[in-house]
Amino acid sequence: MKEFDEYISMVNNALANLKLPSQPAGLYDPIRYSLEAGGKRLRPVLTLAACQAMGKEPITAIHQAIAIEMFHNFTLLHDDVMDNADVRRGRPTVHKKWNQETAILSGDAMLTTSTMLLAIKAGDHLSEALELFNGTAMNIYEGQQYDMDFEKRMDVTVEEYMEMIRLKTSVLLGCACGMGALMADAPFETQVQFFNYGVNLGLAFQLQDDYLDTYGNPETFGKAIGGDILNDKKTWLLIMALREDKTGTLSEIIGSDIEPSEKIDRVRKIYDSLQLPDRIHELIRAYIDTAIACLDHIDMMPEARTFFIDLALKSATRKS
Ligand code: IPE
Ligand code: IPE
Ligand code: MG
Ligand code: MG
Ligand code: MG
Repeated sequence: MKEFDEYISMVNNALANLKLPSQPAGLYDPIRYSLEAGGKRLRPVLTLAACQAMGKEPITAIHQAIAIEMFHNFTLLHDDVMDNADVRRGRPTVHKKWNQETAILSGDAMLTTSTMLLAIKAGDHLSEALELFNGTAMNIYEGQQYDMDFEKRMDVTVEEYMEMIRLKTSVLLGCACGMGALMADAPFETQVQFFNYGVNLGLAFQLQDDYLDTYGNPETFGKAIGGDILNDKKTWLLIMALREDKTGTLSEIIGSDIEPSEKIDRVRKIYDSLQLPDRIHELIRAYIDTAIACLDHIDMMPEARTFFIDLALKSATRKS
């Protein structure tokens, strides 16, 4: 196995070698801008590592890995429009730096580019790779729709929330892992176990994202803090607080248009009073443990197992 950073270098090299056309600049510049901003590269690293864990050179899955990263970046362009988010990876979002039309069209081009990349050197695995990829993409759109629908609802349950984040976020991590195993010719059962590892990791990952959206440091997190509160996003934190705040103050704050920084502050204080930061981390840890347990069903070298365990443990406490 390689180090996490070595897989990142492989991903960055492959993305830099893409040689996107220069014209029309209004279409391609935002794509370059988005890809060059980095990010954690978690999904393509999972693909390359799963491929290597299953006994093939990680380069075997490089096109599928960057296809997934390209797709992820496409979802972010559109997500930032939907969430009215101004900052990502410490820089203005595409719709802020350019405009919404640009975020839509450059996003579309990234989506198409991602499916083209997926097919490169997919060989005998092409149809399975497309089925996994496209099925995942449809789940993400469904999850994003629930996420938007839930902004307007006050009765969202924890179960509905968990299903929403499974769709919008977790399946892509599952797909990234399963894709690596598929490209390494692993048996279908093993692909499924890798997928399940990724899904549970993804649930923990989105819970931590929601935590950081309220409690993170904007410098390291790279996004504005409090956006979820301002958008009335039904995060685990808000759902639990609505359930437990017997004074009714929280529902009044949510429905009102008080000054943004005051709204964030008041909601955060209610979360604090209910010990939600500690409690969300207990839940995150439980999903991390479930993810790690999935690895028991996969036959791989101890070194590979350690890689996936460490990655899961680090995700649970990530700050960026
Ligand atoms: C952001 O994903 C969207 C979520 C699913 C929370 P990442 O946190 O992986 O974003 P980057 O690619 O590292 O910037
Ligand atoms: C991310 O959800 C889901 C997708 C991008 C599909 P968020 O809206 O929480 O992601 P961030 O916080 O903007 O990265
Ligand atoms: Mg968002
Ligand atoms: Mg969103
Ligand atoms: Mg978020």
